Amino acid sequence: MSFSNNFLWGGAIAAHQAEGAYLEDGKSLSTCDVMHGGKGRFAEILDTNAIRKNIESQNGYFPEHIAIDFYHHYKEDIALFAEMGFKVFRTSISWARIFPDGEGEVNEAGLRFYDSVFDECKKYGIEPLVTLSHWEMPIALTKKYNGWANRALIPLFERYAKTVFARYKNKVKYWLTFNEINMSFHALFLGAGVLVDDESKKEALSYTACHNQLVASALAVKACREMLPGAKIGSMVASMVAYPYSSRPEDSWQKMELERKNYCLTDVQARGAYPQWLKRYLSEKKIDTGITAEDERILRENTVDFVSFSYYSTSAVSTDPSVAKDKGTGNIFGGIKNPYLKSSEWGWQIDPIGLRVALNFLYDRYQKPLFVVENGLGASDNIEADGSINDDYRIEYLREHIKAMKTAVEEDGVELLGYTSWGCIDIVSASTGEMSKRYGFIHVDRDDSGNGTLARTRKKSFFWYKELIAGNGEKL
Ligand code: BG6
Repeated sequence: MSFSNNFLWGGAIAAHQAEGAYLEDGKSLSTCDVMHGGKGRFAEILDTNAIRKNIESQNGYFPEHIAIDFYHHYKEDIALFAEMGFKVFRTSISWARIFPDGEGEVNEAGLRFYDSVFDECKKYGIEPLVTLSHWEMPIALTKKYNGWANRALIPLFERYAKTVFARYKNKVKYWLTFNEINMSFHALFLGAGVLVDDESKKEALSYTACHNQLVASALAVKACREMLPGAKIGSMVASMVAYPYSSRPEDSWQKMELERKNYCLTDVQARGAYPQWLKRYLSEKKIDTGITAEDERILRENTVDFVSFSYYSTSAVSTDPSVAKDKGTGNIFGGIKNPYLKSSEWGWQIDPIGLRVALNFLYDRYQKPLFVVENGLGASDNIEADGSINDDYRIEYLREHIKAMKTAVEEDGVELLGYTSWGCIDIVSASTGEMSKRYGFIHVDRDDSGNGTLARTRKKSFFWYKELIAGNGEKL
């Protein structure tokens, strides 16, 4: 069996990495508007004092403020996606456009913007796939509640979700709740708007924030089912394929431990309950997430329709200190450099077979349809004298990954709804804030300091992907 005729080929972006217009038409500051760009971004995200300072005074260059100005270019951009033959376009809604303070009055101008985006998609027969929360929320919620650490956010998120479901019920059929829900384990402010003042409380805060997001996610699933009976709503996780560095049993055990932590939140979203090991762990550590019997019922009764995930690279793990020092770089998950793999310019290890592993692993684990909603190569591009951009390295990366995905569908029988390549148009990198880390089929003239005309140019990969979609993934 090959890709089905209604397989959803397309591309993905996120509101804050593309839209810009950060204070326009009633939008307020959101958590992603207070991070500088550059290699130091990740350290800044983990530094509560630095973020507090940025919230109070907006000094310096914040790449998301203008990003690629999708807010004013969406018609041109969606026309280019349509030219490539996209069947689906994944983006997110900025909560801060709809409820600038996270609570209080709804902002009609914000709702109107997404009306226009989804109408434009419809014009070309492109299905929007919409993430409710992609690593941003109104900064007011961090200031007042310390983000998802406080369960006061659950009803606020539910209200936001119901507002957009009601508004877009005739326009959007595919929804995701939280982008890479497991990211809060690695970067609490990025994933959950939480600032940590006391490191000894960090672990408890992160499990509490994740629990609150899980309940909010389940309530969004419930509302979606009641309000949009024909729609499908899924979870989203950053997949992790880790290889034991050696055949030492300890290395295999470490791989198992890392993977089960990575997927424990998706376990709740897809199966409806916390895994036993985690309940025990939380109780041993005396971590009280505030879970109630009512929460447990909500989680049990509102599992997702499908499981979506991002896939970029893999890593190796070992408990042997002599090899464990050889760290891979770039990837937020860290891990050890795998000697059998090449790395991208940003140190992310390239491993197409790992995508087949991830697809099989997730399908075996959840027995639900899957959706690859992020995959791609972040690379710097060179513009030739004639203006062309010959990104053969990107084509090669995508071709090999799509081949692996095809094998998982054809030979392994994995049920797959679609594939959206990440950053289908160049956008701001989430981990570094750089523009030079480009994923797109479409080049955007903007650099790491905010210079450039914002002009859009088709790269070589644009024509390659167009042909691939036209042939439903058969011509690889
Ligand atoms: C995923 C995120 O983790 O990776 C995206 O959902 C992000 O928002 C993508 O952009 C690629 O990472 P980066 O740091 O290269 O932009």
